[in-house]
Amino acid sequence: MSAGFGFSGDDVSYLRSEAGAAALRDVAGYAFTDATRIADIAAVRAKFACRAAVLVETALLRRRAADKLPGTGDWLFTDEALQQASAAPVALHRANRLGGTVIHDVTCSIGTELAALRGTAARVVGSDIDPVRLAMARHNLGATVDLCRADALHPVTRNAVVLADPARRGSGRRRVNPRDYQPALDRLFEVYRGRDLVVKCAPGIDFDVVKRLGFDGEIEVTSYRGSVREACLWSPALAEHGVRRRANLLDRGEQITDAEPDDCPVRPAGRWIVDPDGAVVRAGLVRHWAARHALWQLDQHIAYLSGDHLPTGMRGFEVLQQLPFDERRLRQALSARDCGVLEILVRGVDIEPTALRRRLALRGNGSLTVVITRVGSGATARGTAFVCRPSR
Ligand SMILES: C[S@@+](CC[C@H](N)C(=O)[O-])C[C@H]1O[C@@H](n2cnc3c(N)ncnc32)[C@H](O)[C@@H]1O
Repeated sequence: MSAGFGFSGDDVSYLRSEAGAAALRDVAGYAFTDATRIADIAAVRAKFACRAAVLVETALLRRRAADKLPGTGDWLFTDEALQQASAAPVALHRANRLGGTVIHDVTCSIGTELAALRGTAARVVGSDIDPVRLAMARHNLGATVDLCRADALHPVTRNAVVLADPARRGSGRRRVNPRDYQPALDRLFEVYRGRDLVVKCAPGIDFDVVKRLGFDGEIEVTSYRGSVREACLWSPALAEHGVRRRANLLDRGEQITDAEPDDCPVRPAGRWIVDPDGAVVRAGLVRHWAARHALWQLDQHIAYLSGDHLPTGMRGFEVLQQLPFDERRLRQALSARDCGVLEILVRGVDIEPTALRRRLALRGNGSLTVVITRVGSGATARGTAFVCRPSR
């Protein structure tokens, strides 16, 4: 991830000035396509001299932000801050959970979470250690939110719920250990012990490490647009009673928690195979979600589910044929069905889909899906291929 252009405080002051705003309106009119970019940048340079770079960067960032953060057409961003920003629906979901509270976003960056929170919370305060991002937040949010520069590890509010979204990348590398987050997760737990705390973490965070750091609240895993976005930690008083894990499937408008039953049998494949949403898998709620939708497991250690009915709105794979996994037999089965385009889903077996697709070298006209998975364990474990027709 590139950190992009380095904005200074002076750049932000200029962009917020009348002259800067007028220049941004002008620069927004350039296309900056592959065909026009060189000429466009030369024209902006001729008009705005040393301000050209900040103007072009801001115009391009605003275009990139339109999809992730709708309604932010006049916002200021840095490249990295835009990449780090929570997508609007994810921030809105959190803001709805925090409705009516007094909340302090202690790593507010350019103000994405605050923008959602000001619509739901009783009062909103934002702070960040980075003065440039804070100046941008001031521009983006206007006078609607109290902002100050502060280190999250030195509290400046007393009774507010604390929201933190520590930086998980820095100096060009991804920080996997939560102690390396900025600010560090263990330090946040220490500093805000006894206070209501919400921490947005990487979706892949090790839940056992979080527990060992003393966290005993709810972990909510959220997916949006087909990918798992975050694991959010809610301190015990903010968690729903009896809930320690939640999967929040924004695309489906569905949530499930570990307070629901998880009675889910293991059986041979029925009509459909279903690959549960990544948030369900990551939250360890596959059996709970299966029980809710009358599905069953193909194997107790594998997340693929099966059933005779597809959960509403869910993409699934209708089983046409089941065979022990063997490349030659699979190629024959697929060729007999005139398959040329093959989607390959794999779990629990050491198969690389791209390499397998290349080796199969299918030449037919149709498209199918093959689900390859391990069924059984120990001596009885075997790779099994299900040739399927996808529901869409
Ligand atoms: C991942 S970003 C937050 C993104 C924000 N939640 C959003 O959706 O736009 C992390 C932020 O933490 C800030 N930060 C890092 N260390 C900090 C500290 N010790 N105190 C306050 N802010 C800090 C960074 O400047 C950065 O803006």
